[in-house]
Amino acid sequence: MNRLERRIGGVGVRSPIWLAPLAGVTTRTFREFHRRLGAGLVHTEMISAIGLTHGNKKTRDMIGDDDEPGPVALQLFAPDGEELVRGAGIALGMRRFDVIEINMACPMPKVTKRGSGAYLLENPREAGRMVSALKSLGLPVWVKLRKTSPQGTADFCRMLIDSGTDLLILHGRTPAQRYDGAADKEIVCRMAGMFPGMLAASGDFYGPEDAGAYLGAGCVAVLAARGSLRDAFLIPKTLAALGFEISEDIRKYVNPAPRDQLDAVISIGRAGSAREGERFAIVLARRMLAGMFKGFTGAGTLRQECAACKKWVDMEEFLTGQNDIML
Ligand SMILES: Cc1cc2nc3c(=O)[nH]c(=O)nc-3n(C[C@H](O)[C@H](O)[C@H](O)COP(=O)(O)O)c2cc1C
Repeated sequence: MNRLERRIGGVGVRSPIWLAPLAGVTTRTFREFHRRLGAGLVHTEMISAIGLTHGNKKTRDMIGDDDEPGPVALQLFAPDGEELVRGAGIALGMRRFDVIEINMACPMPKVTKRGSGAYLLENPREAGRMVSALKSLGLPVWVKLRKTSPQGTADFCRMLIDSGTDLLILHGRTPAQRYDGAADKEIVCRMAGMFPGMLAASGDFYGPEDAGAYLGAGCVAVLAARGSLRDAFLIPKTLAALGFEISEDIRKYVNPAPRDQLDAVISIGRAGSAREGERFAIVLARRMLAGMFKGFTGAGTLRQECAACKKWVDMEEFLTGQNDIML
């Protein structure tokens, strides 16, 4: 049995199966849900350091308050070390985080054209400076990046480590691929071998076997991204399949009964509706339901009924009433 509690990248974590940063998704409510289901660490969405330094209310709201249990990684994007450190300082003045992570992975033009995200892969000097500057705040500094060429990826990883990065999270797609095509797991595993103890994996984690392969090749952790949207219970299922110790309250989600699945959707939707708003709750609940009950009688009707709900209270009432559906 694999024990929980280990130190990775300067942080104590309960397991090496983590929740990835997902813009528009990994809000406080989503993080809380996956933490309860066993995620060893959770990420915020990527947050703009410039938004923080400019006092943007929406950006500040994404930071939230201080009563969130850890470990939580704050992911920031910024074009340079100065904005990054100022933004991080503001965030840390608002609440506690366990890690600050620099986004050097986002391929979207609205981010790269301002010199942030994956643009930094082409600007190693600034990327290295950002890491060294952020280290001055005293927290572990992590970088999430994408692959480029094999040599380019290795050189960039080494440069980041030499600059003081405590952990690298490598996504095995190039920026040009965005989210298309298969993730190159081989390069991620090769880099894990090249930089022992320093590299976590991202890309195409859809089942326990994917995480097992990454961990078996020396990756210190694996991030659940779209897999956590396709299967809300991917994390507990993976922990159980890989022999990690899981608590009794999580065990029922390894192979959840239909009622437990519906109750999970209700609980996240109710919390999301109160915290992030009705729209977030409805969209997230529909997304979760899309991955549930495949092949069960009545699943299509359930999804259609939910698609017609315009208010969270209606969806909650409907889901609560589905007592013998599909059993
Ligand atoms: C909707 C969505 C939002 C994302 N937002 C972020 C983000 O804010 N920061 C980040 O570093 N990566 C982000 N990613 C990338 C994921 O964290 C992950 O690296 C990528 O999806 C590859 O993993 P997968 O193939 O298992 O989905 C996002 C991906 C998706 C699909």
